[in-house]
Amino acid sequence: MRQDLTATSRAPRVYVIHENDAWVEPLRAAFAARNIPFAEWFLDQGVLDLTQAPPSGIFYNRMSASSHTRDHRYAPELTAAVLAWLTRHGRRIVNGERAIALEVSKVAQYEALAKFGVETPATLAVVGKDNIAAAARRLGFPLILKHNRAGKGLGVQLLLSEQALAEHLASDVFEPSIDGITLVQRYIKAPQPFITRVEFVGGKFLYAVRVDTSAGFELCPADACQIDAPPLAEVCPAAAPSDKFQIVRDFDHPLIANWQKFLAANDIGIAGIEFIADEHGRAYTYDVNTNTNYNPEAEVKDGRAGTDVSGMGAIASHLGALLRRAYPEIAGRETVSA
Ligand SMILES: Nc1ncnc2c1ncn2[C@@H]1O[C@H](COP(=O)(O)OP(=O)(O)O)[C@@H](O)[C@H]1O
Ligand SMILES: [Mg+2]
Repeated sequence: MRQDLTATSRAPRVYVIHENDAWVEPLRAAFAARNIPFAEWFLDQGVLDLTQAPPSGIFYNRMSASSHTRDHRYAPELTAAVLAWLTRHGRRIVNGERAIALEVSKVAQYEALAKFGVETPATLAVVGKDNIAAAARRLGFPLILKHNRAGKGLGVQLLLSEQALAEHLASDVFEPSIDGITLVQRYIKAPQPFITRVEFVGGKFLYAVRVDTSAGFELCPADACQIDAPPLAEVCPAAAPSDKFQIVRDFDHPLIANWQKFLAANDIGIAGIEFIADEHGRAYTYDVNTNTNYNPEAEVKDGRAGTDVSGMGAIASHLGALLRRAYPEIAGRETVSA
């Protein structure tokens, strides 16, 4: 933690809660371009004084489930504590306590999605490495193994047979989820190798992006994550996708209304929701990202870069509007960012 969370003397602003500078860089630019006052709470570790009150402002939580991969093991726990404190003091939060609970647990996501008629792949949650094989037998092959608390495709393995699973579990490649929960999940085979990620800002549909999966499973759209992509030849020598992320023109889907109800019910204003459609066109939703990132190249190609319909542009405008509504006195004032 680099900041004093109880600096209450400051003028109201937007507070961005996160633990990864690289992902916030485009949001900083979007705030600056719109002259929206903001500050950042980098919540890797620190002190939260419950006897003090938080400052005035709008609080945007974009904590990531994969924080432990950046050596921020307890950042989500600290964020949950901070959100509880902000909630108690009646502060306006975008992506509140329910959002962080869902961010760190796919099981929690799936059970919450089910309430709104959103289908997810058949899944068994397993604690104890020795129990994975039995769970896999119960589900059948092929299957996907992955982490309950993930992001960045952590632990994602496609396993075609019991023998392949046994080899994987005995190898160094197997890694347990940071929360101890491994998911054994039905593999959804898409007729063409892509998934769709549907972006929402302020609870409203923004756009959908098609993500080419022929090169592997690490799918963070942020620029900063692209350098980690595995060499294409390793996974699929034939494929050489030049456009890994492509914004879908005029996307529409019957599930949009269901996803929106799910987001509203779980205090999530900003998220990217991922689904795969199988050969029958049946859609399976399998990941909710409350710290969503956007692919800048795809936005340039779609004519969105720098506008209010780019991902970070939409977020900045939305948060700026919430700030002006909650604190009308700051409207029109010359502002500087922190
Ligand atoms: N059940 C599944 N069937 C097919 N592919 C899957 C399945 N689950 C995950 N994947 C692939 O792995 C990627 C990462 O999985 P995901 O559940 O999104 O985890 P993360 O939270 O780490 O992003 C997905 O985008 C998709 O390409
Ligand atoms: Mg994902």
